[in-house]
Amino acid sequence: MEAQTSAAVGVKVNGRVVGPIILLGPPAAGKGTQAKLIADTFGIPQISTGDILRSNVAQKTELGMRAKAIMERGELVSDELVCDMVADRLEQADCVRGFILDGFPRTVPQAEWLDAHLEKMRRAKQGDIVAQQACAAPVVIRLVVDYNVLLQRITGRRSCPTCGRIYNVYLQPPKVQGTCDADGTLLARRPDDAEDVFAERMKAYEQQTLPLVDYYRGRGRLIEVNGEQPVEAVMAQAFSAIENVNRL
Ligand code: AP5
Repeated sequence: MEAQTSAAVGVKVNGRVVGPIILLGPPAAGKGTQAKLIADTFGIPQISTGDILRSNVAQKTELGMRAKAIMERGELVSDELVCDMVADRLEQADCVRGFILDGFPRTVPQAEWLDAHLEKMRRAKQGDIVAQQACAAPVVIRLVVDYNVLLQRITGRRSCPTCGRIYNVYLQPPKVQGTCDADGTLLARRPDDAEDVFAERMKAYEQQTLPLVDYYRGRGRLIEVNGEQPVEAVMAQAFSAIENVNRL
């Protein structure tokens, strides 16, 4: 695991501000699973660009209509659309102590946009140190998982259309087969979890997202966690990384 060195990183877990956290990793690495645990523990929102896009597709909004076919092919939605979507979300009041970005950024231009946008937010909050810490330079947690493990996770994944809880028929089954433990809703399979679409998503990850590892490593912000461990072990390492990061 790489040590955090940047003094500008905005995580202050024992105080009030947590700051931005990015979860980086291939499809089915466990980003959503860990993001929900971090969100519940630290009281900051999970911002999943995949979930926001899927909700737009379900509601047949203009954004959803533009994104649907792209997502079904396993390709990435345009940087411009996704950055606009994230900019809107970061305006919401629940981001005041920080936020977890799950599935964003996913390309180098998105990462550059995010750095510039956070800088702009900090400038707008000059004089308010707490507000500036909430949008400080992000800590990036990379979940490292082998291809064959990803494939098993993808084929077994089911999620609750009502509350978003994630299950896996092989690895994390619900108590009653096919229904959500929390609200009893019938669990669903994502259309892009079909094996041929997964192959395309992996291609997009390797070509467009993997360069972010060097981008963040070069800026001293990358923390690598073995994502093949049980959920609780991954969670413990991610939490310890968040807690031990340089305080402002
Ligand atoms: P998105 O929804 O972000 O999909 P993804 O990145 O491919 O990630 P997943 O949601 O598939 O997996 P995950 O890492 O969250 O794993 P999970 O926790 O569910 O994006 C979908 C699409 O939207 C993209 O293809 C693209 O088109 C578009 N998009 C989104 N963001 C974009 C962006 N920024 N730019 C452009 N386009 C964008 O876990 C997976 C399974 O494994 C579950 O069944 C879970 O129970 C199980 N599991 C998790 N952790 C463990 C563990 N430690 N041990 C055992 N099982 C585990």
